[in-house]
Amino acid sequence: MKPKLFITRELFDDIIAKLSEYYEVEVWDKYHHPPYEVLSSKAREVDALVTLLTDKVSCDLLQNSPRLRIVAQYAVGFDNVDVECATKLGIYVTNTPDVISDTVAELTWALILAVSKRVLESDEFVRRGDWHRSGTAWHPKMMLGTELKGKVLGIIGLGRIGTRVAKIGVFGFAMKVIYYDIIRYKEKEGILGVEYRSSLEEVLREADIVSLHVPLTPQTWHMIDEKALKLMKKTAILINTARGAVVDTGALVKALREGWIAGAGLDVFEGEPIPPDHPLTQFKNVVLVPHIGSATLEGRYRMAQVVLENLVAFYEGRKPPTLVNEDVLKVRSPGFK
Ligand code: GLV
Ligand code: GLV
Repeated sequence: MKPKLFITRELFDDIIAKLSEYYEVEVWDKYHHPPYEVLSSKAREVDALVTLLTDKVSCDLLQNSPRLRIVAQYAVGFDNVDVECATKLGIYVTNTPDVISDTVAELTWALILAVSKRVLESDEFVRRGDWHRSGTAWHPKMMLGTELKGKVLGIIGLGRIGTRVAKIGVFGFAMKVIYYDIIRYKEKEGILGVEYRSSLEEVLREADIVSLHVPLTPQTWHMIDEKALKLMKKTAILINTARGAVVDTGALVKALREGWIAGAGLDVFEGEPIPPDHPLTQFKNVVLVPHIGSATLEGRYRMAQVVLENLVAFYEGRKPPTLVNEDVLKVRSPGFK
């Protein structure tokens, strides 16, 4: 008998077909994520789960799922999964790192450029007819933005995505790049020509663009709060393609309203999806996109491939290639035996 696998959203057909060679697969085929009660009752019956960041995999759910051996997350972030609890229970957790670093870095740059060059505001200016009504094609002061060359890009978190963003900043835009991380990457500093700062505060004070690339953990929750935003330059831009809750939304709204910073580009939010009357929607100098950091066909397909590789490896009794909780190896060996 094949082990049972529940997949919480439609992935690519060929990937599902390959998974079906190993698993008895059930796919939740609705656009909306399965309600928590559905997810937990499915989890109780299956040996494996494929989850998304919209699926809350709580300790309670895990404890009540006696057959469950592996949770293969279709995302790089896994803050929706209680990993510590999974480890204790001998449940493997995997994610999809590396394969979307370029895609996310590119979106980060799309936001940096959109905000600094006022792309969306300008588009609206044309579409609304304001340009036409102004009666002139060109004015020395129309839609002035910021040049990036020579400016300081501050990277918070020099992991895989942060590194890609930094590289584009250095080599693509001739920016000076500084970073703060809990780990110092001396080798990368040499290769990329980026400079380390020993505190978040230093980066915030110095940077013209601050870009966040940290996972959401108890330590990074509301890392960008009122105090942090006050340290930033009045001309600086905040970019968040990491997790919404790394920024205190209330503080950000206040900062934008009172002009402590010059703008923001946001892909992630506290309480997604945000409503159309959310306070952040009132600012012209803020660009908002709906958590599309990994949303390229290439990126999403590679993520599905990694999910497949992890589930096949586990099935064959091998360590999944992108295991999140290494300690689980001490609790139970991989496989369904
Ligand atoms: C998306 O937010 C991801 O973590 O992959
Ligand atoms: C702009 O169009 C210029 O010619 O400077």
